[in-house]
Amino acid sequence: MIDLGRNYMCGITGYTGINQAGPILLEGLRRLEYRGYDSAGIAIQSESKKDEAGENGGDNTSCTLKMLKATGKVSHLADKFEAEPDFKGVCGIGHTRWATHGVPSDTNAHPHLSADGKFAVVHNGIIENFADIRAELQKYGIEFKSETDTEVIVQLLAYNYKGNFKKALMKTIARLTGSYAIGVISDEHPGTIFAAKQASPLIIGIGIGENYFASDITALVSNTKNVIDLDDGEVAEITPDEVKVFDHTGKEIDKEIRHINWDIASAEKSGYEHFMMKEIMEQPHALKATIEPRVKDETIVFDEIKGLDMKKFNRVHITACGSAYHAGCVGRAIIESLCKIQVEAEVASELRYRDPVMDEKTLVIVISQSGETADTIAAMKECKYKGATVLAIVNVVGSSIAKLADYCIYTWAGPEIAVATTKGYTTQVALLAMFAVWAAGELKTISHGAYTSMVIDIMHLPERAQRALDLNTKVKKMADKYYDNQSLFFIGRNMDYAVALEGSLKLKEISYLHSEAYAAGELKHGTIALIEPGRLVVALCCYEKLFEKTVSNIQQVKARGAEVLAVAHEGNRSIFQEADDVLLVPQTDPLLVPVIEIIPLQLFAYYVAKKNGCDIDKPKNLAKSVTVE
Ligand code: AGP
Repeated sequence: MIDLGRNYMCGITGYTGINQAGPILLEGLRRLEYRGYDSAGIAIQSESKKDEAGENGGDNTSCTLKMLKATGKVSHLADKFEAEPDFKGVCGIGHTRWATHGVPSDTNAHPHLSADGKFAVVHNGIIENFADIRAELQKYGIEFKSETDTEVIVQLLAYNYKGNFKKALMKTIARLTGSYAIGVISDEHPGTIFAAKQASPLIIGIGIGENYFASDITALVSNTKNVIDLDDGEVAEITPDEVKVFDHTGKEIDKEIRHINWDIASAEKSGYEHFMMKEIMEQPHALKATIEPRVKDETIVFDEIKGLDMKKFNRVHITACGSAYHAGCVGRAIIESLCKIQVEAEVASELRYRDPVMDEKTLVIVISQSGETADTIAAMKECKYKGATVLAIVNVVGSSIAKLADYCIYTWAGPEIAVATTKGYTTQVALLAMFAVWAAGELKTISHGAYTSMVIDIMHLPERAQRALDLNTKVKKMADKYYDNQSLFFIGRNMDYAVALEGSLKLKEISYLHSEAYAAGELKHGTIALIEPGRLVVALCCYEKLFEKTVSNIQQVKARGAEVLAVAHEGNRSIFQEADDVLLVPQTDPLLVPVIEIIPLQLFAYYVAKKNGCDIDKPKNLAKSVTVE
């Protein structure tokens, strides 16, 4: 599997120099707000004091570590800072947290302090072996305060520390598996920050008599435009006058200083013009974050749903809104196909008022990126009232839906800022596929060979998503050709139809063009009357079992003058005879097609909206989280 890392959750920053660190750290955190977060915190080395014993690795002074944390906005943290006039120091670290392990709270917010108060750490990433390290340290009597994976880093560091900061840190990171970008300060090393990186982003900002680090350029750009990119496995020792970088063996290495010329706005979007495009491009990373931690030795492991007994249920009901519902339509097909159990999918705004027939033998799956959608919450309450067990698939940790559900699996897609969901949807579909394979294993409705083959295909999704992005550089050209169609159709069969629903919604919501998704075979029962010369029909042709059938529908619309833009698998030659234009995606298991097939359609919607001058990230009349009925 390609190593894509998880580079979007949380933001970290640090400063060491001659100025007060507090305001600089808070400004850095404000700049990182766009990444999405639910709590924030800073730690500083306050006033130095004389170290009489002179035991501190060459330094003859030490200091006290002070911390401030706040759930919610950076502005809350800034208020706390204003109320603490003694919170003074010229070296510190800061963090915006987007919860993954443990709910958003002051205790779980970073920085985390070692039990002896000697070290403070900020961390972006996920430590996969945190449970083992935690158990081991607890045996030595070390007490943990938070529910986070991060706290093991600082506790292990304090445990390993015998007077040499760098040595202790190198020993600590050698034990970690997963992803991390960390910044650490110690009470015994005034003015020094150590930073380390593995599969999460970290850059160092070079100033004059002051230096910085951060998750990305945004937090640094107003202070310096000279940066060093830390690479995986490297460790940096940052002091006001110097930055030393070491490789994983501890040997000092030379690093190039890069000059950047981004302004703040382009830095927030990693150079992309819109968050939507950034999030489309993040999908391989997001899928990896969703999938990889849940596959062990070609087996799907859901620690989150231990105790969920699939044998108890005789039916599954999926409910959600908008794109999440479209993900549910895909989920219905996958679960039915693999688990041989009756599955229905229904929009939550209908289900909540329908008096549905369900009982304790019903498993209800609710899907929501935000975890706050009012209709979905109401529907799940209704289902719970009827005795059903509710499993939620949610992106935002600690959200209302996550809390209300009996079981919750997080997509871990990272914060999604653009109103139109992209990585939210693909990670939901990937998780539903994983759930279906897991459940089929529990129910013994899948052979060992089929199970393993599905798991392998699921593990390949991140790189196939990347391939779909790489293959579709010409989508912009298609958008330039078709952008002024005022009304169009998306057609497909089976999985392709489910993707048509999402492709059509994506186009509608950001480009304001009228578009409808139709089951390809249904077109001739009335809607074909609307097909006229020049009408664009987007034909989804990746579900190969029914390819010939979809081709007949393409021929029917072409005979009436429609232009056809098809989406098909690489290697499908015959589609070029049928369609006017073709977008290609890589092959995958038929049940996983939607994760890949939607990608060119997201790009198509994006470029059409751009050509039409629409406000892509904030389309008119829409909100990211629909908390009203
Ligand atoms: C998707 O692009 C839409 N903005 C919208 O349909 C969304 O999927 C729907 O409102 C559900 O939101 P949720 O996933 O946060 O519950």
